[in-house]
Amino acid sequence: MSWIREGELTIIERFCANIIKAGPMPKHVAFIMDGNRRYARKCQVERQQGHSQGFDKLAQTLRWCLNLGIREVTVYAFSIENFKRSKEEVDGLMDLARQKFSRLLEEQENLKKHGVCIRVLGDLPLLPLDIQELIAQAVLATRNYNNDVSESLLDKCLYTNNSPDPDLLIRTSGEVRLSDFLLWQTSHSCLVFQSVLWPEYSFWNLCEAILRFQMNYSALQKARDSYMEERRRQQMERDQAYVTKKLQQEGFASHGDSQRRRTLLQRCTAMREERIQGFLQALEHKRVDFFERLCTVSA
Ligand code: IPE
Ligand code: IPE
Ligand code: MG
Repeated sequence: MSWIREGELTIIERFCANIIKAGPMPKHVAFIMDGNRRYARKCQVERQQGHSQGFDKLAQTLRWCLNLGIREVTVYAFSIENFKRSKEEVDGLMDLARQKFSRLLEEQENLKKHGVCIRVLGDLPLLPLDIQELIAQAVLATRNYNNDVSESLLDKCLYTNNSPDPDLLIRTSGEVRLSDFLLWQTSHSCLVFQSVLWPEYSFWNLCEAILRFQMNYSALQKARDSYMEERRRQQMERDQAYVTKKLQQEGFASHGDSQRRRTLLQRCTAMREERIQGFLQALEHKRVDFFERLCTVSA
């Protein structure tokens, strides 16, 4: 039986899910699944048992998300800092991750029918590559075109670029920090900190988090919209300044001919887009290369 699909919502859960779904729903939810070891201590079971139940809770949570129409979920399952834990614990976590994530990936085909796609990303070797490449390439690319460097370019350079930013981020176990998780991508997300330990997470905890998202929805939307608007305005300002400089070089007065200004502006935007695409493709090639080398080394 499928790991994610098994078990449906109870009548009362379905009823509440339908009420919640009448409001604005988060499309992408991120979880920091914290509190496994405290749960193990509380229940006087082995630490590994706490982690194992944590992974099973993830499968159950994905099922709830699916039932609630949330198609995109990102989870923090292991951080670089977690490598500082004992070898025994790290090995145990890696074994669980291998077992449980491969089970999830096996179900990919089945889940695709529901519009769900699973990506398993690791951060450890990838982040330094990202930053190094980014800085090196950006320095080269921007020597002549410093208009190209913008927050939106940074968005496009991240591994998360092909998915929208999370609307809602949930951290369990009462800890109120992000521990380096999706720092850039959650600047306009609704952050919900809940005291429940991850293996004890319930459908009702998820509903409560979504309700908090709904209560803050219009303020979040407003903040996001005005941020995007500000980005557009800044880009336009930079482009206009570039065009003015060009016109002056061509011997026009600062406002120049309005037709010429429009043409230059269009060309400036199109050329930037071309440069950015080239830059992103080069970055993507480096990533693919890096992955291939990594697979060869670990094979
Ligand atoms: C989160 O639970 C799971 C991982 C970090 C892998 P913890 O292991 O951090 O458990 P607590 O927070 O110490 O209870
Ligand atoms: C949090 O891990 C990240 C995950 C749940 C994977 P920790 O529980 O180790 O976080 P900190 O170090 O206490 O912030
Ligand atoms: Mg923890």
